[in-house]
Amino acid sequence: MNHLDDRQRAMLAEMGVRLWARPPAPARPLARSPAGTSAPAPQAPAAARLEAHPLAAPAAHPAPAPAPLPAPPRQAPPASPAKAALPSPPPTPEPPVRAPRPAGVDTMDWPALEAAVADCHACGLCEKRRHTVFGVGARQADWMVIGEAPGEQEDRQGQPFVGQAGKLLDAMLAATGLSRHAPAPAGAAGASAEPQPVYIANVLKCRPPGNRNPQPEEVAQCEPYLRRQVALVQPRVILAMGRFAVQSLLQTTEPIGRLRGRVHQYAGVPVIVTYHPAYLLRNLPDKAKAWQDLCLAREIMNSHLRAASVAPENQKR
Ligand code: URA
Repeated sequence: MNHLDDRQRAMLAEMGVRLWARPPAPARPLARSPAGTSAPAPQAPAAARLEAHPLAAPAAHPAPAPAPLPAPPRQAPPASPAKAALPSPPPTPEPPVRAPRPAGVDTMDWPALEAAVADCHACGLCEKRRHTVFGVGARQADWMVIGEAPGEQEDRQGQPFVGQAGKLLDAMLAATGLSRHAPAPAGAAGASAEPQPVYIANVLKCRPPGNRNPQPEEVAQCEPYLRRQVALVQPRVILAMGRFAVQSLLQTTEPIGRLRGRVHQYAGVPVIVTYHPAYLLRNLPDKAKAWQDLCLAREIMNSHLRAASVAPENQKR
């Protein structure tokens, strides 16, 4: 892990990952390779022991005491059963009318796509949502993160990953040299030490009530929006987070543990599979595996950048 600079170390600490370096072995003469013949081999994340930081555990908040219920308004008893006016039931809000997804999603530009999502009534999730959650970040990013579906905070704010899991995601991205707030570079990517931009979206754009698992027909209705986002962003690598996102993207029922460590494909883009940050908050030791996954995604990106630097016509923009 000597290749990490101070900023990355600080970021890893922020992510709750503590690095343990093996004490230096007694000095032994090393066989030297001719200088400049090969790039230094990326150090395997397994070379260091990664420990989850106990402070990363979600804080236990005592549940607030329930507020006393207001007393129901007193009503005078009806004069006689015959004359009693039946109380009219409170008006129930009409559920929004379902409407088919607009045609032509696969050729929409960003404004049309965002408007189509905001106005989508193609499945029952539109009935309870406060906001649709479209996506966030640089729309020309080389990196894309795909999560599952908005939770309560995301539904309130209309932004992906803004709750506790989002905080951990941001720390994981920072440790990898990425940020949802970084502007897309004007020139060649990867040249500067500034964080690289990432675009974040979910498989579902509306919150499933009570955070229940999405239904297959909800995924089927929403998937064209995500597919179009991927086509517009043209990421070099996708990080798929969580069982549901992974299985939806890769059309598989295999568990994440069996899919990690390999490069998959979605719409022609390399996909690296990893655990969902919300899962990592409950399973701290698996943060080390997530860090390995991020390193694998970084290797994919670096090999792309190396190829692009020898073939400028391969550069994205
Ligand atoms: N979990 C997700 O998968 N996406 C979000 O936006 C928030 C939580």
